[in-house]
Amino acid sequence: MSFSTVIPTLSRPRDVQVAEIGINTLVLRSRTWERLKFEVEYGRQRGTTANSYLIQAQHTALIDPPGESFTQIFLEELQKHQDLGKLDYIIFNHVNPNRMATLKVLMEKAPQVKIVCSKPGANVLKNTFPDWESKIQLVRSEDTLNLGGGHELQFVTVPTPRWADGMCTYDVATRILYTDKLFGVHVCSDVLFDEDWKQLDGDRRYYFECLHATQAKQVEAALDKLAPLKAKYYAPGHGPIVRYSLSRFTYDYRQWCQEQKNQELRVALLYASAYGNTATLAQAIAQGLIQTGVAVESINCELAEPSEITRAIEACDGFIIGSPTLGGHAPTQIQTALGIVLSAAAKTKLAGVFGSYGWSGEAIDLIESKLLDANYRLGFNTIRIRFSPTEFTLQQCQDAGAEFAQVLKKKKKLRTPRQALTAAQVDRTEQAVGRIIGSLCVISTRRGDSHSGILTSWVSQATFNPPGLMIAIAQDQNADAMIHPGDQFVLNILKEGRNLRRYFSYHSTPGDNPFAQLTTKTANNGCLILCDALAYLECTVQQRTECGDRWLIYATVDKGEVLEPTGVTAIQHRKSGSHY
Ligand SMILES: Cc1cc2nc3c(=O)[nH]c(=O)nc-3n(C[C@H](O)[C@H](O)[C@H](O)COP(=O)(O)O)c2cc1C
Repeated sequence: MSFSTVIPTLSRPRDVQVAEIGINTLVLRSRTWERLKFEVEYGRQRGTTANSYLIQAQHTALIDPPGESFTQIFLEELQKHQDLGKLDYIIFNHVNPNRMATLKVLMEKAPQVKIVCSKPGANVLKNTFPDWESKIQLVRSEDTLNLGGGHELQFVTVPTPRWADGMCTYDVATRILYTDKLFGVHVCSDVLFDEDWKQLDGDRRYYFECLHATQAKQVEAALDKLAPLKAKYYAPGHGPIVRYSLSRFTYDYRQWCQEQKNQELRVALLYASAYGNTATLAQAIAQGLIQTGVAVESINCELAEPSEITRAIEACDGFIIGSPTLGGHAPTQIQTALGIVLSAAAKTKLAGVFGSYGWSGEAIDLIESKLLDANYRLGFNTIRIRFSPTEFTLQQCQDAGAEFAQVLKKKKKLRTPRQALTAAQVDRTEQAVGRIIGSLCVISTRRGDSHSGILTSWVSQATFNPPGLMIAIAQDQNADAMIHPGDQFVLNILKEGRNLRRYFSYHSTPGDNPFAQLTTKTANNGCLILCDALAYLECTVQQRTECGDRWLIYATVDKGEVLEPTGVTAIQHRKSGSHY
């Protein structure tokens, strides 16, 4: 699904709209009519509201104060409605680092306040403000907080990869469910409720796709937990309060989650992020994938169990790993995830690497080199972003996600056309293709002191001038020393009757030295010549083209020699075109 950008017609200064939405309950909507930030989720450019709620019963609670973009105007407005010296609780359905600036000022003006949040939220708070430990009241699912006057608050934790500390708060008196990230939308207007909900469809869907599509499984689990509460209103962190379209919107969430699960292609997006930069890149990449019709399973490696990573890696068609560099390394959780990937992901799975770094970026290089060494193919050029992303670099990430999705789709298409043929037809076609013959050759390549040899019969002359040849090679043949322009190799053309092929296979195995038992000499380009071959050619790779499940390598011949003038070329005869 793609979304066009909707530009708002109104532009007004930021303000805070206040209204009563239930007994003893106010909403304070900090509003901006312009795009708040350049992150993808604000891409529709319809402004947004940061919704906070104030319950004034025998005890008072402020729910979800806004981020620092609104600190000053929000506090000015709040003080018109609440004596901060008498505020009892601040409830965080999610401890957003952005909200800290507002919280800090609030705590100066209301030192008596208790901060209520989930355990992961409390950890974030304690790290930032170690002195506040005694002010934090940690809550779990099914805990309650009684504000008096029937306002019993029930807490439901709804952790997701993106918001590990996520929580919803339900007020029994008003049947308002404070949903924070769930059921929101980035739209600014004077309308408090969702009476025009049909007009919000596109924006709601866009918000879901940006924030929740990559965590559909956890969102479904959250919906299950929230269903028994029988809420009358959803009071989200952004956009209108959901009153008229509550059941429809809940149904939409279920549908959208299901759609993600039903997508044919799936990408596991593994990342860690200490300060949020790599996470922001991950979201932009995910957005590019989702908008190109590929499901994304987002895994925050800091929170995931190894078994969860293994399952996601086995179930995906491609995987992408993102990491910051900290102290010259990838975080331990990323190193663990990389180990799992290398052992569990089939080599045919498409891979991608990205990360934010400060000055050296070792983590990104490490992940990339490990994946390339293991012969994974990359679906986009590795993304390296210094510190925080910009609007431009986020667009790059989105484009990379879309590119990755296209490569996956192309791969899938290539795997499917056979289905159009009947089994008998396939068989006949394969037999016919198998009648194509080729000379049996051993390609020898060199990396430093290590020599590799690959058996092939998929070679043919391609040009007279310069003398050039074409070789088809697959990703899983471990032929990475001969796939880049400038790479050099020797093509040893084998002789009929001398069984050299038994020393080699169609794949090279790193570490093996099949030449050890054979007589060889070194070519000018450093690769090995088999002295018992019929002839050899020293070649340089000029071009590589992706064709179906192979790369076509075009190489020019720098030098060649016939070693056995009376010999005959060994030929690979086959019965079927479905294998070598
Ligand atoms: C304690 C610390 C150590 C860091 N070490 C490195 C480093 O060795 N090399 C580097 O390129 N950047 C280093 N950085 C910069 C981070 O990689 C950079 O801030 C990055 O944006 C963090 O990504 P994140 O927000 O996803 O955690 C370091 C940053 C911190 C705070």
